[in-house]
Amino acid sequence: MCGIVGYIGKRSACDILINGLKRLEYRGYDSAGVALNYNAQLTIAKQKGKVAALEAHICNDVSHDAVEKACSGIAHTRWATHGLPTEENAHPHRDNSGRVALVHNGIIENYAALRKQLEKKGSSFSSETDTEVLAHLVGSFYSDDLLGAVSEALKMVEGTYGVAVLANDSPDEMIVARKGSPLVVGMGSDESIIASDVSAIVAHTQQVIYLQDGDVARISATGAEIYTLDQCVVDRNISSVEWEIGAVEKSGYDHFMLKEIFEQPSALENTIRGRLDKVQGTAVLSGLNLTPRDMASIKRLVIVACGTSMHAGMVSKYLFEGLADMPTSVEQAAEFRYCNPLVGADDFVVAVSQSGETADTLAAVRESIQKGALVAGLCNVVGSTIARETGRGIYLHAGPEIGVASTKAFTAQVIVLLMMALKFGRRRRLSREAGLMISREIEQIPAMIEKVLEQNEAIAKIAEKYAQVEHAFFIGRGILYPAALEGALKLKEISYIHAEGYQAAELKHGPIALLQESTPVVALLNDIPGKEKTLGNVAECRARKAPVLGIVTEGDLATAESVDDVIWVPQCSVYAAPIISVVALQLLSYHIARIRGCEIDQPRNLAKSVTVE
Ligand code: G6P
Repeated sequence: MCGIVGYIGKRSACDILINGLKRLEYRGYDSAGVALNYNAQLTIAKQKGKVAALEAHICNDVSHDAVEKACSGIAHTRWATHGLPTEENAHPHRDNSGRVALVHNGIIENYAALRKQLEKKGSSFSSETDTEVLAHLVGSFYSDDLLGAVSEALKMVEGTYGVAVLANDSPDEMIVARKGSPLVVGMGSDESIIASDVSAIVAHTQQVIYLQDGDVARISATGAEIYTLDQCVVDRNISSVEWEIGAVEKSGYDHFMLKEIFEQPSALENTIRGRLDKVQGTAVLSGLNLTPRDMASIKRLVIVACGTSMHAGMVSKYLFEGLADMPTSVEQAAEFRYCNPLVGADDFVVAVSQSGETADTLAAVRESIQKGALVAGLCNVVGSTIARETGRGIYLHAGPEIGVASTKAFTAQVIVLLMMALKFGRRRRLSREAGLMISREIEQIPAMIEKVLEQNEAIAKIAEKYAQVEHAFFIGRGILYPAALEGALKLKEISYIHAEGYQAAELKHGPIALLQESTPVVALLNDIPGKEKTLGNVAECRARKAPVLGIVTEGDLATAESVDDVIWVPQCSVYAAPIISVVALQLLSYHIARIRGCEIDQPRNLAKSVTVE
């Protein structure tokens, strides 16, 4: 949510900032801006809309000297919270004197009170944003010590921030700070690049420092000095980013989403690698850091997550209860802390989050830790807040996910949860033979996904038939119910078709009233227990003239005859079924959105990483 990038070094900053913003655009894309520090002046350019609009504006309207010669600058791509997506509200914002400019990700919760105080002292504001208040506040403290001024201002702020600040008369430094919104410092040779995530940095360096909450840092071309807000020095490790720039490029695909769908076999191989014990038939997940005593004392699993990650969590309820007899509840993270969550020492809370930054999931983590539960994070982004705060967990190793609609993260999350269920299952009730069978099945999932991907053209053809509908339902039973929810979510996210996922039998308790010829039903009919019952529900839909598109196991001709259209998926066990079905539904949504001409990688109103409540 909102992307920040900053550069200080020997090269021309503007290009580096614009290219960095393009890499971060998935975080928010309703306006963008840049501030360049050149010749004791801050040149600011902002535009409503995408980074490309900002780039054109800079080309046509901004002083060439600043664009070519400024060697430090900050930039921002916005996902609006306070104030409409307009040029005035776009970042960077300045203080009244124009000496200070800053970009900010997060929310200043007490901005209204601060704004009143500043107005009394003579500040006048040109935007509706909370961020401009922070710029004025920094300006009010600034004489010649920018680090001190930023620290003092941040002490007065309630809320969250990742922030980068420049002062016109201090060209050799940039001050950055974080609390609740990620910020990474890239350490190049004779240059530093800061950003809200590493994808804007890897083109320049793979050596990074992940700032921690409460850190404020002075960044120069030669590195970073990091302090607390009270100006005590802190030491942070330099880490090496594991992947290279190719991972955040489209590599010939039309969209990141399609690339990420097709990457799933290799991404999942990375997720699985080294984690299956093929002698004992269990999973090796050392990052969970659970002692045999912990494993024995856990009475209940509680999953907290949002969006697609919550659907992965819902799949895992069937896995943990089925394989490990482990009662599992799946909680919407946004509700968790507001409903007296009954978690304690016997509970194992697992936060599932691709980004590791989702504000509601993070808040659920903090609440659970405070209540004494064992808490683990299941994240894709290395060094993310949830991964760090839980201190135990499993990385997905699925590689960066850029498309706003989550695809490979979902399948990797389900695989990791399946491996966790296997591990608990082996401790509690599964025989070695049963464990070995499941681990063999897990190993085959990437190849099964390959087979679904081979259906790409056939799915594109089916998409043509359904692309113009206004409403759609997705139905499934048991472990395929969350897959139906995820199929519906994918379709609405990227094609803007109104889609609902339902447990197949539940459809008749109300929603069936909406079925008609123009309202298709996508039915998950994999050949696993429950299929016959879902077929009964399919008949009910067809009796109301709703066309039915079935996800059907190869060779299951009888089922194929009961529906109007078919997407074939390979034969598999109940554990793999939600994964391979969702891959088919990802492709279906992708092609429908493509045919409708939608902005697939950056759907309207959405952001990849939601760092506000
Ligand atoms: C946003 C994204 C979704 C994602 C959800 C949870 O809403 O648009 O695709 O599923 O956040 O994100 P997380 O990073 O916690 O998995």
